[in-house]
Amino acid sequence: MCGIVAYIGKQQAYPLIIDGLKKLEYRGYDSTGVAILEQGISVFKKKGKVQDLENFINTETKNTNGTLGMGHTRWATHGEPNDKNAHPHTSGNQELAIIHNGIIENYTTLKKALIELGHSFKSDTDTEVLIHLIEEVQLKHNLHIEEAVKKALQKVVGAYAIVVIDKKSPDIIIGARNSSPLVFGLGQDEYFLGSDASPIIKHTNKVIYLNDEDVISINRNGDYNISNLKNKTVSHQIKELDLKIEELEKDGFDHFMLKEIYQQPATIAQSMKGRLNASEGWAVLGGMKQHINRISKSKRIIMMACGTSWHSALVGEYLFEEIARIPTEVEYASEFRYRNPIIKEDDFVIALSQSGETADTLAAIEIAKEKGAFVYGIVNVVGSSIARITDSGSYIHAGPEIGVASTKAFTSQISIITLMALYLGHERGMISESDYRELLSELEVVPKRVEQILKKNDHIKYIASEIKSAANALYLGRGYNFPVALEGALKLKEISYIHAEGYPAAEMKHGPIALIDMYMPVIVIATNQSAYEKIVSNIQEVKARKGIVIAIINEDDTIIREMADFFIEIPSIAEPLTPLLSVIPLQLLSYHIALMRGCNVDQPRNLAKSVTVE
Ligand code: F6R
Repeated sequence: MCGIVAYIGKQQAYPLIIDGLKKLEYRGYDSTGVAILEQGISVFKKKGKVQDLENFINTETKNTNGTLGMGHTRWATHGEPNDKNAHPHTSGNQELAIIHNGIIENYTTLKKALIELGHSFKSDTDTEVLIHLIEEVQLKHNLHIEEAVKKALQKVVGAYAIVVIDKKSPDIIIGARNSSPLVFGLGQDEYFLGSDASPIIKHTNKVIYLNDEDVISINRNGDYNISNLKNKTVSHQIKELDLKIEELEKDGFDHFMLKEIYQQPATIAQSMKGRLNASEGWAVLGGMKQHINRISKSKRIIMMACGTSWHSALVGEYLFEEIARIPTEVEYASEFRYRNPIIKEDDFVIALSQSGETADTLAAIEIAKEKGAFVYGIVNVVGSSIARITDSGSYIHAGPEIGVASTKAFTSQISIITLMALYLGHERGMISESDYRELLSELEVVPKRVEQILKKNDHIKYIASEIKSAANALYLGRGYNFPVALEGALKLKEISYIHAEGYPAAEMKHGPIALIDMYMPVIVIATNQSAYEKIVSNIQEVKARKGIVIAIINEDDTIIREMADFFIEIPSIAEPLTPLLSVIPLQLLSYHIALMRGCNVDQPRNLAKSVTVE
């Protein structure tokens, strides 16, 4: 949520900043801005995307010279997306500038006090208040910018990753973080700050992940100092990333989302690499192995996540209960954090997050840890906050997910959860050896099965063209496919703006059936498994009300293919593994519908990839 990047070195900062902002645009894209420090601070900002800012700067032939600069791509929280609310924001004397990701919660109180001291504000943002506060503190106590930032931040309540520059210190960049990510990149005679490593990796793979309440001061000569708000020096290890720049490109696909859907045979395989061997009959995860005594004695599993990751967790509930026979609860992290949850010593808490930075999930983990829980992270982004604060965990190794709508992270999360359930079920003696072996073998061939489904893309595109004008859509599934129905509906609404609901198929008659008429597409995940007959009845009920049935069926299905208006075949697989296959056509269906409706598939309106605010 909001992307920030800053540069200090020997090269011209502007092109590097613009390039970095393009990599960060998935985090927010309603307005963009850049500040360059040379003689003074020049700020350029515009409503819209990075390209809009570039066009503005080019047509107005603005002078962007300078070797120190910073840029911001915004996802609005305070104040509508427009030029004046875009970052960077400057102090009253124009000598300081700031970019910020997060929310200053006590900004109204601070703003009131600053107005009484004579400050006036040009924007509606909390961020402008912060730079005025820094200015006030600096002038009042005659402080160097680093000290002024620290002192001002002591008065701040909220989340922030900030970069501050000061005209009076043209060789220094200050960064600070609390609950929003900030990465320091150490290149050859050049230094970077970024919300994540994506704008940095092209220049250096040496990074330091800052922690909460860290303040970094980076000098052009390479000296840097990291300390906390109380001025105590903090030491950090430099990490070497193995992220490749190609992973951040579209690779010949029209959109990141399509690339990421098509990557799934590889990403699912990657997530299971070294963790599963069907011929030798084992599934193991390093992060669990170290703690297996504690984990296998758990009396309850609590899974916490948001959005698509929450849907993966819901698949986890079915998997853990069926395979490992451990009662499992799935919590919205945002709800968990604001009630008084009961956590017991023998609970096993699992937090899922693609980005590893979701504010609600981070806060829920902190609460669970305070209550003494052992928290396991299932995370994609290496080095992210959730990966670092959890007691143990497994990376899903799906590679950077740039399309705002999550696709490959979902299937990789489920692959990991399946391995966890199998490992745990086997350790606890809750699964027969033959069922265990069978599931391992079927899991190993999931990537091949996904490849088969991807070959149906043209047919799915045709179905998309038939239903693209719908105003609403209903997604139905039972058992393992209920979370997939939720996920299918989420994919459709977030990228095509069609209102969609996911329901357990049997719940339809308790309300949603009232919505069904000849204009309502009803996407039914109707694979040939335990509740097959029940699903057949549900489809009859939809047909009786003239709904348009799009059924996801198995290749050997004979009944539903005759009843449905459209069907998409997927290979048969053991029931617990179905979500890994049944979600693929739903991802493609949403992608094509959104595209046909002229929507921006990779950057849907109002959304951002990494939700680092509440
Ligand atoms: C939907 C989507 C979001 C995220 C949610 C959690 O396509 O991407 O619903 O799943 O914001 O994000 P992470 O997994 O990064 O915690």
